[in-house]
Amino acid sequence: MPDNTRRARDEAFWLTFADRYAIEPGPVNLENGYFGRMSRTVVEEYQRNIELINRSNSVHARQRFDRDESLEIRAQVAGLVGVCADAVALTRNASDGLQSLIRNYNRLKPGDQVLICDLEYDTVKSAMRWLARYRGVEVIEIEHGHPASFDSLLATYRDAFVRYPRLKLMALTHVTHRTGLVMPVKAIAAAAREHAVDVILDGAHALGQIEFDFEDLGVSFAGYNLHKWIGAPLTLGFIYINPERLADIDPDMGEMHFPTTDIRARTPHSTPNIPALLTLPLVLEEHRTMGGSAAKGARLNYLRNRWVRAVRELSGVEVMTPDDPRLYCGITSVRFTRHADQQAMAERLLKDYNLFTIARSGAASGPCIRITPGLTTTAADIDLLIRALNELR
Ligand SMILES: Cc1ncc(COP(=O)(O)O)c(C=O)c1O
Repeated sequence: MPDNTRRARDEAFWLTFADRYAIEPGPVNLENGYFGRMSRTVVEEYQRNIELINRSNSVHARQRFDRDESLEIRAQVAGLVGVCADAVALTRNASDGLQSLIRNYNRLKPGDQVLICDLEYDTVKSAMRWLARYRGVEVIEIEHGHPASFDSLLATYRDAFVRYPRLKLMALTHVTHRTGLVMPVKAIAAAAREHAVDVILDGAHALGQIEFDFEDLGVSFAGYNLHKWIGAPLTLGFIYINPERLADIDPDMGEMHFPTTDIRARTPHSTPNIPALLTLPLVLEEHRTMGGSAAKGARLNYLRNRWVRAVRELSGVEVMTPDDPRLYCGITSVRFTRHADQQAMAERLLKDYNLFTIARSGAASGPCIRITPGLTTTAADIDLLIRALNELR
């Protein structure tokens, strides 16, 4: 058994690991998808950096951060996905970055088509719909069949590429926040390339949660955050633009602090959260030391599989992602099939079992309840969920 798989089921290890995090007493948190916790060490470093920047103010910011530190931090972020530093610009989050990419993609002309699916994040959907109004393009909205398979997901895109020959650009979500479905990005991006369709990849939930070789995915544009599964302070993200494609993204609204040959001109220029950025090297070191996304993903998948295996065949509950290991991750949604109102069922989970989850709608497969374990979730928490699903169904 590979080390990560063995360690993923070692409750004693994860109980000790959980001591690295301060946790407010309260419900069992199975909604770790909003953002991740920082470890105590990271919190302390962040506090030190807040105090440092507050004391030294613009002297540190202008003499050190703006000159060298921000470049070094950007290089470390680029290293996280294995690309060169000049392919990366730091942003405040994934939404800002993805909006910049969509807004400034300059290869669209009136009459072209752009593609989104039901599983995209709402901000991405609305940014793509915005293109209709400001670029005169037609927005094609497709839905994925349920239950999904690797082949069905790919076939849905292949059909769209044939049916809509004026497609130029599509959004693609690596891990959807609605059900946790993991998209076969590499295969879809390859099919898109055959039809000369560019992909803007939303990697918000993928980075740190699942292992992937970024360059192997074959996408030229992507947006990420660092505050979900990497464990960074809130307000950190980045975009990737393939340096050979930089000219296809305009500087953001005439942005002129950097030359047009510099990716940093593709995002709004503003005062960043300097203390948070200064904390990033420690965050990345902790991420690496614990085994990175391979170790985190193995633990999250173990917890996911523990409850999914226990309820998959039960009547009255439906697990929304398939068991093909290429298509699932720690986040997995479930639906009570005999109850119309999933929000009400999420409230029952909280009221009757002290389990904090979130209802999600917007997927063509229907409303559901998203279960997102975190690195401090225990097997006992998951067993409580299994009991709750069993009793409430
Ligand atoms: C799939 C997906 N994309 C984008 C985002 C936006 O991320 P951020 O909050 O960093 O802007 C989220 C946030 O939950 C998400 O789940």
